[in-house]
Amino acid sequence: MKVIVNRTYEDVSHSASQYIQTQIKHNPHSVLGLATGSTPLGLYKKLVMDYRAGHTDYSKVSTINLDEYVGLSKTHPQSYHTFMRNNLFSHINIIDQHTHIPNGQAMNLGEECARYNRTLELLGPPDILILGIGENGHIGFNEPGTSFNEKTQVVKLKESTRRANARLFSSIHDVPKEAITMGIESILSSTCILLLATGERKNKAIQQLLEGKIHEEFPASALHLHPNVTLIVDESAYNRDASPRQSFNPAIYE
Ligand code: GLP
Repeated sequence: MKVIVNRTYEDVSHSASQYIQTQIKHNPHSVLGLATGSTPLGLYKKLVMDYRAGHTDYSKVSTINLDEYVGLSKTHPQSYHTFMRNNLFSHINIIDQHTHIPNGQAMNLGEECARYNRTLELLGPPDILILGIGENGHIGFNEPGTSFNEKTQVVKLKESTRRANARLFSSIHDVPKEAITMGIESILSSTCILLLATGERKNKAIQQLLEGKIHEEFPASALHLHPNVTLIVDESAYNRDASPRQSFNPAIYE
């Protein structure tokens, strides 16, 4: 795993945007795997600014998102459909039919998972997959204990995840108890993975990722099994007692 330590959240967003813009220039038909949450918001802002400056064309790009809450409609303010529309899709020239997000309101969730796996197969592996990380090490919504051999699946959210995400809802009671997520096997099928982590809240998870064992109790550790993962962190997420702060900006550790 390559580790890039940037000074600030802004720098992390900039670094990640460079990867995406370069990828699309290299292949206008790129497939991007996308994440939600607070972490990639800065990245999406950078992509929108760059698009408005006329630098990148999304008309042939396809996207596939990691996850969606079960039970929320596409127009619910906290659905990941709404998140992607508000923060990226409605600001760039991507074609609606080229964007894919699990349907959290599907009548038959098992069939929806199978449909999503077929979509992934048809698109081919994402050229770049953006990931955030939960405080408990979840990626997508693959909670601790998830098998590394799962494709798209329905998962029960841990109370800690519901509490962490409750800040975006009126109360914890409104946070759905389940989600549909691309499984770890699907995540690892991507050609290149960018894991973004920013802020002190992620400090422990990053330390465990970099120093702990590969184990299903810490889902992000599966990323060590992939040959092309880049972790882009800011100082506060990386901040480890043993590391000299002056070597941070920007440093690359391999
Ligand atoms: C959610 C999402 C994840 C995201 C994680 C961290 O649970 N399903 O994809 O990585 O939260 O979110 P944040 O970036 O807001 O800390």
